[in-house]
Amino acid sequence: MNEIKIFSPATVANVACGFDVLGFCLDSVGDEMTIRKVDKKGIKISRIEGFDLPFETELNVAGVSALAMYDAINPDYGFEIEIYKNIKPGSGIGSSAASAAGSVFGMNELLGRPYNKTELTQFAIKGEALANDCEVADNVAAALFGGFTLVKSLSPLEILQIPSPDNLYATIIHPQIEIKTSVSRAFLPKEVKLQDAITQWANFGSLIHSMHTNNYELMRRSLHDVIIEPHRSKLIPHYLDVKNEALNAGALGSGISGSGPSVFSLCKGVETANNVRDAIKKVYSKTGIEFDIHVSRINTEGVKVL
Ligand code: HSE
Repeated sequence: MNEIKIFSPATVANVACGFDVLGFCLDSVGDEMTIRKVDKKGIKISRIEGFDLPFETELNVAGVSALAMYDAINPDYGFEIEIYKNIKPGSGIGSSAASAAGSVFGMNELLGRPYNKTELTQFAIKGEALANDCEVADNVAAALFGGFTLVKSLSPLEILQIPSPDNLYATIIHPQIEIKTSVSRAFLPKEVKLQDAITQWANFGSLIHSMHTNNYELMRRSLHDVIIEPHRSKLIPHYLDVKNEALNAGALGSGISGSGPSVFSLCKGVETANNVRDAIKKVYSKTGIEFDIHVSRINTEGVKVL
């Protein structure tokens, strides 16, 4: 096999109380990429459609993660990467992670799968770091593994797959403004109050327990973020209106997707997810800000061959 076409999904990181460690994978939105073996050594980004991104390999997240893997293998041929981006950069639904995860997943397939998903995540983190100014794995792990993933540790890298109820759906609103992750991270305090930390880790532990036990009511009581949301929500227009309408329409919980501006809601069943979509659509329709809105199952497969 010399060429492969893949789908690399959007992801939601943090999931309210799991800043930098928890993520989940969407299935209704993602990028496509074509990766092919070529005679000329090295990694070349040969085509980018959808958004204006750098073609220089070292400046492109897909290029940087591909290079990390390429340097580890050093084959006597090279790879060309075509990127068909649907996920807007700076959207908060893992645009850079989809690129970073997609290139290494595709190369791994063409190489005969020498690496497991944790090792692929390790390479993809290098691409993510270009966009984030620091190494985080919550989006790339969710994109590569699918489902809900917990980054137990970055060094050594350890990813845990967290089960989730079959009937869990996400509604995501993406206001068409850009918030760079590096800016949104710089906005955060360096220290947190002990009482807030206690509340956060109690919610986080309960959220993970609720996933394992299909306990939607516990999920509803656990999807709260007392550490990050109070700061970042100021960057997102009409954030509280969206959140309140989502909760009124039956969402189990609602929060900032990754570093924003997208806002996610988790819902029991597609009907509630559609009701939440309609309710938050009404909020944003009045603002004059353009937006996309998606209802998605939890994608348990992650990046896949098309
Ligand atoms: N956990 C990261 C953040 C996600 O919220 O900054 C973006 O990569």
